[in-house]
Amino acid sequence: RPLAVETAQEAARPVALGLTQRPRRNRKAEWSRRLVREHTLTVDDLIWPLFVIEGSGRREPIASMPGVERLSVDEIVRDAEKAARAGIPAISFFPYTEPGLRDPTGSESLNRENLVCRAVRAVKKAVPELGIMTDVALDPYTSHGHDGLLEDGAILNDETVALLVEQSLIQAEAGTDIIAPSDMMDGRVGAIRVGLDRAGFRDVQIMAYAAKYASAFYGPFRDAIGTQAALVGDKRTYQMDPGNSDEAIREVALDIAEGADSVMVKPGLPYLDIIRRVKDEFAVPTFAYQVSGEYAMIEAAARNGWLDGERAMVESLLAFKRAGADGVLTYYALRVAERLRAGA
Ligand code: PBG
Repeated sequence: RPLAVETAQEAARPVALGLTQRPRRNRKAEWSRRLVREHTLTVDDLIWPLFVIEGSGRREPIASMPGVERLSVDEIVRDAEKAARAGIPAISFFPYTEPGLRDPTGSESLNRENLVCRAVRAVKKAVPELGIMTDVALDPYTSHGHDGLLEDGAILNDETVALLVEQSLIQAEAGTDIIAPSDMMDGRVGAIRVGLDRAGFRDVQIMAYAAKYASAFYGPFRDAIGTQAALVGDKRTYQMDPGNSDEAIREVALDIAEGADSVMVKPGLPYLDIIRRVKDEFAVPTFAYQVSGEYAMIEAAARNGWLDGERAMVESLLAFKRAGADGVLTYYALRVAERLRAGA
């Protein structure tokens, strides 16, 4: 039976809330929202990953990462200069290795004249004040697309670590500031630290990809460095299971004990809980990688007009700060730095 009109009116009469707390008071104006804001994103939080290719004057679009390009070394230098002018503290390099140079052991990773080493030397010369980080892993160089040596379908741990140490020394010799092992082999951080120290590279830092998950969000990156088609099987015997959280704590503890100067959680947005746990537990410099698939998701939606790309970019990056990250590797670094500089 429908309610009588009078009963309905009586029930809907405004309730006297008697509130002493009104959280909206602090949100009433922009000046107030700024005053009470707990976390902010600044240019100091950014590391910019760049893709390197052979050639000169070459800027090649990456289909699955609209707005991101593969750059020849001379173009890398131009972008490094832009990064420095925008106040970005550090950049990082990933090579697209010519297919003819890929082999089962990733031997191009040990070539002192490979793309990464040339990019490091060129940027160090042109923009010495800019921090340079380089990835250590075999996947950009192997014909099978794995981060380590493959034998009878298995990834060999200790034999791979020996190569990663050599790769680190070559990058350190070229002038890199931060070695970032992204391979997830056991014991590689300790072995690399010993190798660097023995060779006199005591001040080269190690940022460990400590909690790196076997993620679907790396797809566009593998497209960018040309390993997607080549990859045999998956990386689940070395990258972490997305269902795990305690295991991330164990991985981070090991990497710190082995000598890591900072640690990274990767991917970013789907793993904000891991960033928070790591920061609370260890209180060491903690970084997040907003990976290629996260970038592609935002860009795809923005380019379809389904969301405001600029706002989604800033909001997603701020989320890392709120979760406890000290900084973020992001393909948005230059775009967001220029926006921050303009005071937006
Ligand atoms: C590989 C490596 C990957 C990324 C950085 N280093 C991909 C992978 O593990 O297959 C991914 C970065 C991104 O998706 O943006 N050593």
